[in-house]
Amino acid sequence: MALVTTTEMFKKAYDGGYAVGAFNVNNMEIVQGITEAAGELKSPVILQVSKGARAYANHTYLVKLVEAAIIENPEIPIALHLDHGDTFELCKSCIDGGFTSVMIDASSKSFEDNIALTKQVVEYAHAHGVVVEAELGTLEGVEDEVVVEAGKASYTRPEEVEEFVTRTGCDSLAIAIGTSHGAYKFRPEQCTRNADGILVPPPLRFDVLEEVSKRLPGFPIVLHGSSSVPQEFVKMVNTYGGNMPDAIGIPEKELRHAAELSVCKINIDSDIRLAMTGNIRKYFAEHPEHFDPRQYLKPARQAVKDMVAHKIVNVLGSAGKA
Ligand code: G3H
Ligand code: 13P
Ligand code: ZN
Repeated sequence: MALVTTTEMFKKAYDGGYAVGAFNVNNMEIVQGITEAAGELKSPVILQVSKGARAYANHTYLVKLVEAAIIENPEIPIALHLDHGDTFELCKSCIDGGFTSVMIDASSKSFEDNIALTKQVVEYAHAHGVVVEAELGTLEGVEDEVVVEAGKASYTRPEEVEEFVTRTGCDSLAIAIGTSHGAYKFRPEQCTRNADGILVPPPLRFDVLEEVSKRLPGFPIVLHGSSSVPQEFVKMVNTYGGNMPDAIGIPEKELRHAAELSVCKINIDSDIRLAMTGNIRKYFAEHPEHFDPRQYLKPARQAVKDMVAHKIVNVLGSAGKA
């Protein structure tokens, strides 16, 4: 199967009550781990590339790695998506360079400026058979070079979504309902503790999601910042010399519920980083004499695969939907 857009994937996901995972790719091991898991579980998957990933690995290398993954996994639909494009030029470069989907993230601009830039990208993208994700509302955390400080984030205003989608012509919409980027999504003082002493974050704003969906029936919604920051990996990092105190993410149960509703794309990056880093730290601690990168990248790649398989089965519900 050649690279696909997300149009068909989202339609099936919307109707089927599941979501497609969008995982960030930065190197060969990550591309392999993700697509091997999706291939074995017969799940559609979105591989997404940030501006930072392009700067790190080079556009051509990333596209060629994804092309190799398509050859190796011919039975599953794979989309190649630009994550958090911040200019028309960056989106155009990815559209011209083989991506099937781009995100224009003008969410930090005014409503009118967001519409104007999103519309410009949509016109170019649609003329080239590429789909566009846009964003309304701002998430806390770091998105490439844009840092949204704690307290400066704002939930999506449901009363704005119809006008935004109609005027821009975007194909999917990322909304802010309480998720955020990175491994520190909540401060401990924002959380409560359950009977086992585990920190429980405040719930996502499902009321906002439901209001948005009511106004945009059938329209695919996207959730960024959807890592769950599994505590076993935080513990692994910290046990083997890391220092990630109070890292906390979005409970998987909430993401599963969002996937049953109108959320068709769920973005996960930090959990892959955690799984790789925890396993590499462990490997180094247990094999101080080893220095062949293949020795420690192999368990790291397996950790990516295991993490993605877990998400497909337990969070996204996309197994067998290829
Ligand atoms: O939303 C951000 C993604 O996790 C990508 O992160 O810009 O460091 O590649 P990055
Ligand atoms: P996480 O940092 O929660 O993995 O979010 C990733 C993301 O939204 C990429 O766009
Ligand atoms: Zn994001």
